[in-house]
Amino acid sequence: MLTELAFVQLSLFFLFLNKDRIVNILMVCLGNICRSPMAEGLMHDKIRKWKLDAAVDSAGFESFHLDDNPDSRAIQVMKAHGINISGHRMRLFRESDFDLFDKIYVMDRYNYQDVISMARNENDLAKVDFILNVLDPGQDNLVPDPYYGGVNGFEKVYALLDRATDAIAEDIKEGTANAS
Ligand code: 4NP
Repeated sequence: MLTELAFVQLSLFFLFLNKDRIVNILMVCLGNICRSPMAEGLMHDKIRKWKLDAAVDSAGFESFHLDDNPDSRAIQVMKAHGINISGHRMRLFRESDFDLFDKIYVMDRYNYQDVISMARNENDLAKVDFILNVLDPGQDNLVPDPYYGGVNGFEKVYALLDRATDAIAEDIKEGTANAS
């Protein structure tokens, strides 16, 4: 409880500091230990390298790994590509995320249903999209859940998310990112 409160305070402080940013992005998956921390790590790396005016966080819906660090295979694959996500801690998606973030990218249709079931209005709904729609608009393609497979699945997730975050970074750079 104390950790959760401290996290909320930290998040609010972080976002307050950055309230003039062009776009605040939230990556969402089920467990927040595989796909969404990888997406967050990739996006964060590009924000830093491209000096983009943006911020990124991630969250999930399954509390089984609450406050845990990412899956060791996710950490390993990201590390092999020069990105350290070992410090991330699993957190749950909450209604206030609709107020804090401009874009909420989900990995599959389960996450999509989970997020939109908490949307309060059309404005909240408009923020939610499948992350792979940045590559193939309207296709609602999914980023497969690598949790029950081997490291190879994590490499495939990395490759998909690398392309998707490149496209998001490009949109932010060009000022065409949809910050509602
Ligand atoms: P993620 O993968 O949604 O990409 O983080 C999963 C991680 C954990 C579980 C399911 C999916 N789980 O059931 O614990």
